[in-house]
Amino acid sequence: MSVLTVDQVSIGFGGVVALDDVTLEIPPAEIRGIIGPNGAGKTTLLNVICGINRPDRGDVRLDGASLIGLKPSRIAAKGLGRTFQTARLFRGLTVLENMMVGLHLETRSGLFGAAFSSRAMRAEERELAERARRSLEFVGFAHLAELPGAALSFGQSRIVEIARTLIHEPKVVLLDEPAVGLSLNRSAELDRLLRRIRDERGVTLVMIEHVIRLVMEVSDRVTVLSYGRNIAEGRPADIRENPEVITAYLGRALDARRAAS
Ligand SMILES: Nc1ncnc2c1ncn2[C@@H]1O[C@H](COP(=O)(O)OP(=O)(O)OP(=O)(O)O)[C@@H](O)[C@H]1O
Ligand SMILES: [Mg+2]
Repeated sequence: MSVLTVDQVSIGFGGVVALDDVTLEIPPAEIRGIIGPNGAGKTTLLNVICGINRPDRGDVRLDGASLIGLKPSRIAAKGLGRTFQTARLFRGLTVLENMMVGLHLETRSGLFGAAFSSRAMRAEERELAERARRSLEFVGFAHLAELPGAALSFGQSRIVEIARTLIHEPKVVLLDEPAVGLSLNRSAELDRLLRRIRDERGVTLVMIEHVIRLVMEVSDRVTVLSYGRNIAEGRPADIRENPEVITAYLGRALDARRAAS
């Protein structure tokens, strides 16, 4: 039984077909790498899953329940976390405060609670802060909680972004190029962290990544998109050897490297 299903999804923007009949079945506690050349539809796929873009055709299901037509915040509350490639921390807020920004809307007391019961709200805020602290602890950043966002390096703030997705105990987390701009050391740390999120939290990770080393090392399975189509899927070792993939993607990457050297 898959935790996340993308079922024959198609979506176009004007004349451009961004996703063309794409199907994915992702089981619980799997790390799924998504690779493909520029413009292949990778970001669009994440946007469709998390409800930012509505597909023209097809269905997306989390634990068997369709997500189509739900707002992104609703989908997030059902257990779908996401990081954005360009997200930055607010420099003037502490790391812990950064973790909690935007989460109040999702808490139980909601708008009514906020207006009528400040005591319930304070209790909820304390609980949220407690969960945020535990998430920071999980990624090994408990000691950074009270520092201003401005004090963190780029690599550290990327890890905080991931910690933030764990606050609500998601079933699935979507990661948009988590390794971009990370040093080699940080990127190795990221490998370990992603595996721990899978193994200790049972979370399924769907990761777009251009850093092929990371994708191939950390993914249980890899899906290759090209021109909006799912052209290959399998274990990293098989994907490396797949002639269609080599032509569509790895070949191009190799050509680029040759041209650069
Ligand atoms: N909001 C949009 N409006 C118009 N066209 C779009 C929109 N979003 C995506 N596209 C087009 O859909 C196609 C897929 O784009 P997408 O961003 O999903 O690719 P990608 O695989 O993430 O590429 P990259 O590796 O460069 O990030 C591209 O041709 C892109 O120009
Ligand atoms: Mg993209």
